[in-house]
Amino acid sequence: MPVRTLPSSFLMLLAIWGVLVPSLSHPQPNPCRMIQRMALCNNGRLSYVPVGPPCNTEELQLNHNHIQTLLNSSLLHYSSLHTLSLAGNHLEKMEANAFGGLHRLQILNLAENELHVGYQDTSHALLQLPQLRVLDLSQNGLEDDMVFHLLQNLTSLQYLNLSRNLMQRLDESSFEGLHQLRELDLHSNMLFEIDGAFSGNPKLQRLNLAFNYLPCLVDFHMTQLVVLNASHNFIEWFVAQQELKETFHLETLDLTDNKLLFFPFLPSQSRLRNLYLSQNTVRFYGGLVDDATGENWTTSIQFYNLNGNASNVTAQLWDDSLHGDVSSVEILDLRNNQVEHLPQGFISQMQSLTRLQMQTNCLKTLNLTSEGFSGSLYELDVSNNRLSEVMAEKGTLAALGNLTYLNMSLNSLRWLPSGLFSSVESLRSVDLSYNSMGICPSETRGEDEGSPSDCVVWRNMASLRQLYLRGCGIQGMPPSLFAGMRLTHLDLSDNPGLRVETGALRALTGTLQHMGLGKTDMKSVDFSPFHSLR
Ligand SMILES: *[C@@H]1O[C@H](CO)[C@@H](O)[C@H](O)[C@H]1NC(C)=O
Ligand SMILES: *[C@@H]1O[C@H](CO)[C@@H](O)[C@H](O)[C@H]1NC(C)=O
Ligand SMILES: *[C@@H]1O[C@H](CO)[C@@H](O)[C@H](O)[C@H]1NC(C)=O
Ligand SMILES: *[C@@H]1O[C@H](CO)[C@@H](O)[C@H](O)[C@H]1NC(C)=O
Ligand SMILES: *[C@@H]1O[C@H](CO)[C@@H](O)[C@H](O)[C@H]1NC(C)=O
Ligand SMILES: *[C@@H]1O[C@H](CO)[C@@H](O)[C@H](O)[C@H]1NC(C)=O
Ligand SMILES: *[C@@H]1O[C@H](CO)[C@@H](O)[C@H](O)[C@H]1NC(C)=O
Repeated sequence: MPVRTLPSSFLMLLAIWGVLVPSLSHPQPNPCRMIQRMALCNNGRLSYVPVGPPCNTEELQLNHNHIQTLLNSSLLHYSSLHTLSLAGNHLEKMEANAFGGLHRLQILNLAENELHVGYQDTSHALLQLPQLRVLDLSQNGLEDDMVFHLLQNLTSLQYLNLSRNLMQRLDESSFEGLHQLRELDLHSNMLFEIDGAFSGNPKLQRLNLAFNYLPCLVDFHMTQLVVLNASHNFIEWFVAQQELKETFHLETLDLTDNKLLFFPFLPSQSRLRNLYLSQNTVRFYGGLVDDATGENWTTSIQFYNLNGNASNVTAQLWDDSLHGDVSSVEILDLRNNQVEHLPQGFISQMQSLTRLQMQTNCLKTLNLTSEGFSGSLYELDVSNNRLSEVMAEKGTLAALGNLTYLNMSLNSLRWLPSGLFSSVESLRSVDLSYNSMGICPSETRGEDEGSPSDCVVWRNMASLRQLYLRGCGIQGMPPSLFAGMRLTHLDLSDNPGLRVETGALRALTGTLQHMGLGKTDMKSVDFSPFHSLR
């Protein structure tokens, strides 16, 4: 063996070399894959930071390894790093100088670790990152005071993720130095109080408070906020500061799955476009209170925080006309609430409304004319209510020229204004399932648009593609049914008395792709002419 003949001093040198650079003397495959200046070393069971990638590496990904501690020396090799990602590592702490040379680091992902263990040392280490813009500390078992320590003097942060931690209370000091903060994710903590927490963050635009224990959001005055997500809390009240005359930048407000009793008291001037209120107990109380009994009903609500500091918030609880500025609202999601009626003028204030989702409420009547729907209305879903009456005045339905999806299923309708569907020229999908509505015989009655009719004439609706008439108690099908229509979906199932015959569906043989005929009295249906059927 040639080695035996080498001078002993060379062997000695090799030995020393071996001590200094273990990875060379015990060659291991470089655990990282390089893509330009990015080193991907994820899912590698690494317990240390590898030195394989070149020192001009700008992005280092070490997600899902076993790195428990970052040493002062761990990252010395990588002074050009811009992005460092250490998610999912059981990382408990870092020595105070671990980020010592990383003056260019802007993005740091420490999600899914155990930083609650050594948060003091970690907070010292973070102080060495003067350029840090993006920090992900989600899922680290962090409590309020730990977060406070970790964020000390991180004044350049623009994005901060603290979701899935154990925070309970926030106050003015929680995020006080973060003047540049634009986005903050606090979802899935245990927050029940957030008094004044964001007063030091004038640039904050996106705030996620979903899945916490907040009981209310009152005195809301963050005019700079664009997206507020407070879904899945226990919020009974949302009250914006009504006296503020400044325009709120709020575009999206998500209050899904809370305990709202009242429609939110929105800012008096805003650009709100998306309002998500499903899964609450919202209703309008206007009908309940007339002047005689109403004068002594309270109009102010008192809120206390843990310090015992009460704040009086006055809201015109019983006045249906005061909900703030809804003039820009495009999507109103009120699914699963208790709405029995829509206050007078409420819908007509929303001149940009494109989607109204009201399924599973308690609506009894709906007047398509007097509500004053906007011409941009695209989707109207009033399914699963208690509707027995839908009204429309003669000649007014053409105003709904953009209405494309109409769902009135699961109500108690026995009458509809005649010509309702044929007057709406963009209709693509109609669901009338589980109402008592028949199909009109072919010899059309003098069809006076708007007059109530207990059946619908399905003919010459050129835009309609999907029609659902499940469980409507339909008995007969007139011969020239569906003439001039190009339906792709037709569901007639669950009409037990209905004799379905191919002749009646002849007009649809070229277009029909999906047909539902279960639980009908299906006799002589020959499917062969339906060549598009799937
Ligand atoms: C890491 O660096 C810090 C700051 O320079 C120093 O105080 C600390 O003792 C160092 N840790 C170790 C284990 O050398
Ligand atoms: C944060 O900055 C302030 C003012 O620059 C300084 O007084 C304070 O010591 C710093 N805090 C830490 C923990 O370095
Ligand atoms: C914050 O982190 C959580 C969990 O790691 C993730 O689901 C979420 O998308 C992140 N938030 C943002 C705004 O990126
Ligand atoms: C609000 O946050 C929850 C949880 O992160 C998310 O599922 C939901 O989509 C968010 N809502 C909006 C409007 O983005
Ligand atoms: C309202 O309260 C006043 C004083 O308590 C009382 O005199 C009056 O009868 C009350 N009005 C109604 C309508 O209950
Ligand atoms: C109550 O609020 C006032 C004004 O905001 C403040 O000065 C005072 O310290 C608070 N009291 C307590 C007990 O927090
Ligand atoms: C709130 O209003 C009630 C009744 O008007 C009053 O007694 C109380 O002092 C007010 N509290 C505060 C903090 O203003």
